[in-house]
Amino acid sequence: MFESARLGGQHQLDEFDCGNEALNSWLREQARRADSSGIAHVYVWTPIREQKVRAYYAICPTEVIRNDAGISGSLAGGYSRMPGYLIARLALDVSFHGHGYGAHLLLDALDKAVRAAEIGGGRLVVVDAIDDAAYEFYKHFDFIPVKNRGGRLVMKMSTAASALRAV
Ligand SMILES: CC(C)(COP(=O)(O)OP(=O)(O)OC[C@H]1O[C@@H](n2cnc3c(N)ncnc32)[C@H](O)[C@@H]1OP(=O)(O)O)[C@@H](O)C(=O)NCCC(=O)NCCS
Repeated sequence: MFESARLGGQHQLDEFDCGNEALNSWLREQARRADSSGIAHVYVWTPIREQKVRAYYAICPTEVIRNDAGISGSLAGGYSRMPGYLIARLALDVSFHGHGYGAHLLLDALDKAVRAAEIGGGRLVVVDAIDDAAYEFYKHFDFIPVKNRGGRLVMKMSTAASALRAV
């Protein structure tokens, strides 16, 4: 039903509404600059042969410092600093909520993180939940809350890779 692609000049952003104005306005006002400057890469979903964006996520490299974040030894694997990928934003238009598309969007984002890590390394996938509902959404998919930073959760890259193989 949707095509997934890197954000381009042809994509229409104005009508996107995920129900969270901060995520809507970031897409409209900051996503193109973030993508072109290399701060994050932004991927969008559009219905087949349409350019209206109905979902997006942004992904960028990150580093997790074990003591700052407050993560377990098994997640850290004995290291004090770990590279990874941050799914900085992820959102779906409200007209498509509740039909399983959010789960597919997350898998699409995890696939990007796993592929990037296959090339350049990366131990953790990191997500920042924008509110309590988003926090519960990520917990539903077995992301693990970090102790010292509210709203942040992590998953081992190897766990994400296994989940993708199982789909
Ligand atoms: C979060 C979001 C992408 C979820 O999309 P969605 O289409 O509503 O979710 P889905 O229908 O794909 O749900 C997939 C699974 O997650 C569960 N789920 C969805 N939202 C949930 C929530 N808030 N808390 C717990 N579980 C949730 C569903 O019950 C479903 O479970 P199942 O696979 O066992 O049936 C969407 O609600 C959204 O864009 N919200 C606004 C932006 C946002 O909060 N982004 C989060 C990152 S900041």
